[in-house]
Amino acid sequence: MFKSINPTNSSEVIATVPESTTAEILTVLRKAKNAQKGWAKLPAPTRGRIIANVGRLVEKNKDELAKLITKEMGKVYTEALGEVQEVVDTCDFFLGEGRRLYGQTVPSEMQNKHLFTFRMPVGNVFVITAGNFPTAVPSWYIVPALLAGNTVVWKPSEFTPAVANALTSIFHAGGVPQDVLITVVADGAQTFAALESGLKEGVINKVGFTGSTAVGRKIGAKTGEYIQSACLELGGKNPMVVMPDANIDLALDGALFAGFGTAGQRCTSLGTLWIHESIYDSVLTKFAALVENAAVGDPFKDVLFGPMISQKYLDNHLEHLKMIQSHHKVLGSTSTGRITSSNSRKGFVGDPDKGVFAHPVIVAGITKNDELYSTETFGPLVTVGKFSTLDEAIELANGHGYGLSSAIYTNDPQNVWRFREGISAGMVSINNSTSGAEAHLPFGGNGMSGNGSRQSGIWVLDQFTRWQSMNWDWSNKLQKAQMDLIEIKHDPNFVL
Ligand code: UN1
Repeated sequence: MFKSINPTNSSEVIATVPESTTAEILTVLRKAKNAQKGWAKLPAPTRGRIIANVGRLVEKNKDELAKLITKEMGKVYTEALGEVQEVVDTCDFFLGEGRRLYGQTVPSEMQNKHLFTFRMPVGNVFVITAGNFPTAVPSWYIVPALLAGNTVVWKPSEFTPAVANALTSIFHAGGVPQDVLITVVADGAQTFAALESGLKEGVINKVGFTGSTAVGRKIGAKTGEYIQSACLELGGKNPMVVMPDANIDLALDGALFAGFGTAGQRCTSLGTLWIHESIYDSVLTKFAALVENAAVGDPFKDVLFGPMISQKYLDNHLEHLKMIQSHHKVLGSTSTGRITSSNSRKGFVGDPDKGVFAHPVIVAGITKNDELYSTETFGPLVTVGKFSTLDEAIELANGHGYGLSSAIYTNDPQNVWRFREGISAGMVSINNSTSGAEAHLPFGGNGMSGNGSRQSGIWVLDQFTRWQSMNWDWSNKLQKAQMDLIEIKHDPNFVL
């Protein structure tokens, strides 16, 4: 049995859910696989109407779902409302795709012959997601996968089973048959064993995974053995570059939200704030003051961030604190580590002893050789460093090998275009936070952040469909491509 605990109040159990074994996950995978052909037969516009129903039901239940998210994983309520809105936006986008899902008609090189393309569903999709976005990120996989005629088995984070079950019940209420979307809660080892057997048996035709780079690497390797490529959305060490001409207050607002929103537990959270050397001291001082004065605590109140998702995430954060070295300057709080009544934070909202709260930390003076330079910390820890030229900033921003999100603050278009061209990240913000991508642009990263797959918008359809090409020759004779060429009379030596 999994127990999900309210991270704001550890004595409150939100849900106790059965834990599936490898054999049980496999049974579920087979069930969904069996349902796939029937689901794919439903016309795409009809599947689109079902997605429309789901979107309206999510909208109707927005407050309840957001409350459950805040209670089960601890993000502040306004952010939870935003997350649920992202599910609605995803449904709104894809309901119309049911009436589009275009293929093409393509001219043939021969007469009396026509060429066509069709999008075919891939089959049964195994979706494995993290606890930090327990509804929005899963919806980026589930909604387009279902719309395109696939069935889905979803393994949510064990830290957010109540939210997962609530979202699943909304899909079913909207008209998705029980076997077309099945949610299973299981631990990592059972899930991975089921993944391997499911791939071997042919009951998994596509894997969607959001989580750490280490696990993504294992899933990528395993799917590769079965000639599949998983849709991987992995870690980030997202840089934010502040040029001397930037609107500094705007940059600071962006850095505060990007660094500490969701307690830094977004894959798009700010990694390192790179400040131009000419403004380094003044910007760092202002940033430190903003963080020192930010309210932390009860996520239902007006705070910058609430608790960590769970004790495990807090422990992980504490490990990262050990990477702070003597040449670093620690700012942003009067202490580090867990916030308790004896290791208190000024202005804390609520009772820190009841939950798993962490002090926000700025680690200034980061250099390329530091462990923290290239470690995704996934907590309320922002590293800060300086640079002298934009080329150097770009090199620092790319040098760790992650490439998910990035940002530059500047008012000079030259800087914007040079940064956009030089940065290796899949997503670039200009005068905006590294986090907070809109739900209809391609979302995803490069290098250690992903294998080039993109979620969201029309681009994700390439993850959940395969192109089938068809040629139809109605000439009643065998016409040979590349060989039966039509002669073109022309003069290759012609000059005016
Ligand atoms: C994630 O943390 O895995 O862009 C996704 C953002 C959110 C999604 C984050 N819309 O910050």
